[in-house]
Amino acid sequence: MHRRDLLRLLGLSALAGATGCHGQSTRPRPEAFSPQIAPGIGFVPDVELVLTAAPGEVGVLPGEPTRLWHFTGRLLKGPADTLQALPGSYLGPVIRLRRGQQVRVRFVNQLAEDSIVHWHGLDVPESADGHPRLAIGHGHEYVYEFEVTNRAGTYWYHPHPHMRTGAQVYQGLAGLLLVQDAEEDALALPSGGTELLCVLQDRRFDARNQLVFHGGGMMEMMNGFLGDRVLVNGLPQPTTEVDAAWHRVRLVNASNARIYKLAWSRDVQMALIGGDGGLLEKPLHQQVLTLAPGQRADLLLDLTSLAAATEVHLESQAFAEADASAGGMMGMMGARSNVPNGAPLRVMTLRTRARKGPAFRVPERLSSFDAAWSPNADATIRRVPLTFQRMEWSLGGRTFDMDDVAPEETVAAGSTYLWEFVNLANPMGMEAAHPIHIHGRQFRVVDRTGGRTTNTLRAGIVDGGWRDTVLVLPGETVRVQVTFTRRRGLYLYHCHILEHEDMGMMRNFRVT
Ligand code: C2O
Ligand code: CU
Ligand code: CU
Repeated sequence: MHRRDLLRLLGLSALAGATGCHGQSTRPRPEAFSPQIAPGIGFVPDVELVLTAAPGEVGVLPGEPTRLWHFTGRLLKGPADTLQALPGSYLGPVIRLRRGQQVRVRFVNQLAEDSIVHWHGLDVPESADGHPRLAIGHGHEYVYEFEVTNRAGTYWYHPHPHMRTGAQVYQGLAGLLLVQDAEEDALALPSGGTELLCVLQDRRFDARNQLVFHGGGMMEMMNGFLGDRVLVNGLPQPTTEVDAAWHRVRLVNASNARIYKLAWSRDVQMALIGGDGGLLEKPLHQQVLTLAPGQRADLLLDLTSLAAATEVHLESQAFAEADASAGGMMGMMGARSNVPNGAPLRVMTLRTRARKGPAFRVPERLSSFDAAWSPNADATIRRVPLTFQRMEWSLGGRTFDMDDVAPEETVAAGSTYLWEFVNLANPMGMEAAHPIHIHGRQFRVVDRTGGRTTNTLRAGIVDGGWRDTVLVLPGETVRVQVTFTRRRGLYLYHCHILEHEDMGMMRNFRVT
């Protein structure tokens, strides 16, 4: 292996027990951002909370509890419904924020290794973005202060430490972050019991109900780690009793590497109303939805005509493994999940009660936010090849280096660029679908070309609306238009297959 780090990474990831006793990272930690370590002077939070990452135990499967790591929250200030625990789940609390709120989060690390939290999809200053160079050790606290400037939408949070994002998310560290605003309020979308929050993750357990991670070593890093069962909010194939009513279903793919091709088992009407960055302009009627790691979908589901005790399953339909995961050499070398990407899976079940819900009509127009957007012919174009070279996945021919920024990764604050992600074929057959995520700003997909016409994931991809993570299938070129934040600093873009990210398929960009 070229990458000496990979060995370290595999060594560390042999970690099986959540209460492992691994020492601190020996990497020197630059004490950047000391002003944010102490709460900012003059910052008056509307919401203040403590978020702690610590080892714990949760009963996931029948029998022995599973040792894992999780976030717990405590509200110090703000509306009482800011934090919502998910019963029985190892996931962190749902954090509900409103656009315009000033938020302070005190992140406390009680893990035996460094960590830092990233607010996926939020537009925050660099000091609040969770860059790995800001990771803190056991017993330390990192104070985040930011204003919620994003529109209403489904966002999420997870750790982002150097080379350990995959391991920490897999061990249980993740949570939902929902933003509300006046535009969304006005639609009176289904809420309370008719709003279903669904975080999708796949996991593998041993005979004693403990999490298995990276038993297969290097090959699983190359392909991304896949579990052999899907959990929704940390529960295996849950069945939820629901009214025969309209439901709002908010889906997050928080899996390390699994792509889902989602569809309902019955002919129920589904209207897609939002993506990563909030509401679409108009609802989109679509029966299949491709959801890659990092991505979110917001949809309305019509269960009004179902008789009591009817079951509707959310399923991930079959697709060819090669349409998502690296094949070729790696496939031949074996050591892959017995439930590969593309294996059909049942995700969850909804069972109707006799009770009907309130009348509801899908609004014809959801948002006026898009009215201001159009493709910008003057945007600076940058080509970013996604390649496998020297036994590594790379972005623009480079891999991650803590502080390194290439000239073409320097962008002017507030200016508009067209980044062209080119997923090149590889002579060794090492090609994969890469969900590319850019920190700090929601972007627009301008076009998608190339790729195999036989790739059935394509039909389920939604490119409309605002996104922060875009799936680039093998052979495809996807162009996104992004207007970078006005806040100077160092931000990240990377593949959201967490093993690819941890192996270096991540780069900095600097806003100047
Ligand atoms: Cu959700 Cu940098 O990632
Ligand atoms: Cu992010
Ligand atoms: Cu990737």
